[in-house]
Amino acid sequence: MSHKTVRLKTHFLFWLYDRKGEKSGEMYNEIDLDKIDIHAEPPMEEPARQYYYMAKCREWVREFERKNGHRPCFFTQTFGCQMNARDSEKLTGILKKAGYAEADSEEADFVIYNTCTVRENANLKVYGRLGVLHGYKKKNPNMKIALCGCMMQEPSVVEKIKKSYGFVDLIFGTHNIFKFAELLWAALISERTVTDVWDGTEQVVEDLPLERKYSFKSGVNIMFGCNNFCSYCIVPYVRGRERSREPEDILREIKGLAADGVTEIMLLGQNVNSYGKTLKTPIRFAELLQRAEKIEGIERIRFMTSHPKDLSDELIQVMAESKKICRHLHLPLQSGSSRILKAMNRKYTKEQYLALAEKIRKAIPDIALTTDIIVGFPGETEEDFLETLKVVWTVRFESAFTFIYSKRTGTPAAAMEEQVPEDVVKDRFDRLLHEVQKIANERAQLLTGTKQMVLVEETNSRMTDYVTGRLSSNHVVHFPGDASLVGKIMQVSLDECRGFYFMGRATGASLSGLE
Ligand code: 5AD
Ligand code: SF4
Repeated sequence: MSHKTVRLKTHFLFWLYDRKGEKSGEMYNEIDLDKIDIHAEPPMEEPARQYYYMAKCREWVREFERKNGHRPCFFTQTFGCQMNARDSEKLTGILKKAGYAEADSEEADFVIYNTCTVRENANLKVYGRLGVLHGYKKKNPNMKIALCGCMMQEPSVVEKIKKSYGFVDLIFGTHNIFKFAELLWAALISERTVTDVWDGTEQVVEDLPLERKYSFKSGVNIMFGCNNFCSYCIVPYVRGRERSREPEDILREIKGLAADGVTEIMLLGQNVNSYGKTLKTPIRFAELLQRAEKIEGIERIRFMTSHPKDLSDELIQVMAESKKICRHLHLPLQSGSSRILKAMNRKYTKEQYLALAEKIRKAIPDIALTTDIIVGFPGETEEDFLETLKVVWTVRFESAFTFIYSKRTGTPAAAMEEQVPEDVVKDRFDRLLHEVQKIANERAQLLTGTKQMVLVEETNSRMTDYVTGRLSSNHVVHFPGDASLVGKIMQVSLDECRGFYFMGRATGASLSGLE
């Protein structure tokens, strides 16, 4: 599928220079909204149109402040995956650019839920929280409530919200999140619910503001959507077809992040291994990684998620030779039974998965392999489940996310007969979790006593004078330190393994190039 990239007009560009004085990225967060004529007609091109609406919202915010004596505040709640977390940084960036202050609770003037619908539980949580929000809105008539994300791509959800939760002010989906400033403006001036959900898009809009949660690490979208149609999964229906960003745009963003102090990036996509295949000038994911690796200032590269069917030998080799790509690969297994894998439309067999895992472990001996497993897929027998356990015992994952199968309306699996009884699923889930945890602990134990490089992420909320950091393998370690270490890469001795995490002590000075 072709795609359209809409780039910022040159007159809006602000360049950021790195220490060598070379142009390294664009500071779109620096765009001066006061220079935009909000009384003129809105521009048609993106993202200039969105900056125009940000300027209009900012004027509204100033008026609010004049009337109420304080700035309006917002709260963003994110459900689901890393892609949603990254999208929420965009929402936050736009709200801040418009002048909103960030609140620390949902008792705010503007609350937005970025929803997930991958499993039913996520949906139920949103409906539950909406009841609470309604209570807040009764106390604060200025309050606006917005819903976006994957759940909103389901027509039945939007219908239900309109019928039973009429107090919601704004509903939009995953394809037009770039239009958030325009939609926010529409919601601010409207008394009725503003709804704008698109079926799909070919657009990739670049250069909108965003507010990173961490100063030193960042997600970077490399592609959107998914073409795989695993039979249980709703993602292809709510996130649309695969669209890759142009490599130049991605690399430009990473250079900008590096110049802004980011040392770790996480390349994000539903299936990063098929990145670039649909671009006019196709490029392989392994190639993109090699180009990203050359960017000065970036010390660590992660990526998420890989599909076993598309993981190439080239990628394994690039990872093995890389100094920057983290020793962690998330490789969803879903089931260890070839029969169930076929029904899931995963396009690999148990044997192929095992061969791939072995190949990876051999090529990169210090790799941490993690996975996703679903139990209770329709028709799963005890034998099928035992096959899954066998794969878990064989591969010995460093960690695994285990899920109870959730029936998603509209997916092929929802129509399959032989849905597995709840008590059987629960029993299998508990048995799987027990094995997964036991193995994860045993794997972690192997690292005890070693010294590892750790990126310090935060001060520890429970133990004063401790910080928490992450190994290249994604394991977590707590060790004595203070806020000055956050964002630095330290050498840490892993003195004690406590199941999934370590207690350690710093044994080497900061190696971050930020000093
Ligand atoms: N039920 C349970 N788990 C699911 N996942 C996706 N769809 C479903 C579903 N219907 C899991 C898969 C995927 C992870 C992100 O969520 O394991 O890898
Ligand atoms: Fe869903 Fe499969 Fe696409 Fe992952 S690869 S998002 S599980 S359809």
